[in-house]
Amino acid sequence: MIDDFREEHFSQVKEIIYENFENPWSDSNIIFKTANSIKKVAILQNSVVIGFVDGHIVYDEADLLILVVRKSQQKRGIGKRLLVEFLNEAKRRNVKKVFLEVSEKNIPAISLYKKFGFKPYGKRDNYYGIGKNAILMRLILNGTDFDAD
Ligand SMILES: CC(C)(COP(=O)(O)OP(=O)(O)OC[C@H]1O[C@@H](n2cnc3c(N)ncnc32)[C@H](O)[C@@H]1OP(=O)(O)O)[C@@H](O)C(=O)NCCC(=O)NCCS
Repeated sequence: MIDDFREEHFSQVKEIIYENFENPWSDSNIIFKTANSIKKVAILQNSVVIGFVDGHIVYDEADLLILVVRKSQQKRGIGKRLLVEFLNEAKRRNVKKVFLEVSEKNIPAISLYKKFGFKPYGKRDNYYGIGKNAILMRLILNGTDFDAD
């Protein structure tokens, strides 16, 4: 099930971020939320959080800041579901374009984003450290809703 992020999810989301990223987010970045945020968790029936997506909207554009799935639950369609929820909510809020940065070495994420129509439009050298480049990707949203199937 996908739910809105709430403070009760914080410690589990932090755990998931820490197991997946070398330079994890600060606690305040995880919790910080405004009316323009889209923050969602994927959650099992026993309240175990298994994924997190976060982004924010500025006018008719959204930045997808993070998408992460608990390692033990990866490759089961959770990332796809979170992305679908994010994109459909962005559309409901009249977003026309979604932007993101991803490491050029992150094949799983790039493959996922491409499946949803994200296209590379630029590159930032050394964005994640020396020799660790980012690809900039963009998705133009149109009329139809996304689904995870
Ligand atoms: C990227 C990530 C969110 C994908 O989540 P996931 O739940 O494992 O992905 P899904 O099972 O929904 O797979 C969706 C698609 O992603 C791609 N994908 C996922 N894992 C992959 C892998 N190991 N290798 C290649 N492609 C992969 C595939 O295109 C897949 O589509 P398919 O099922 O039709 O083959 C997850 O790997 C993750 O949390 N990675 C670490 C954090 C990260 O790098 N986040 C992205 C940058 S913020």
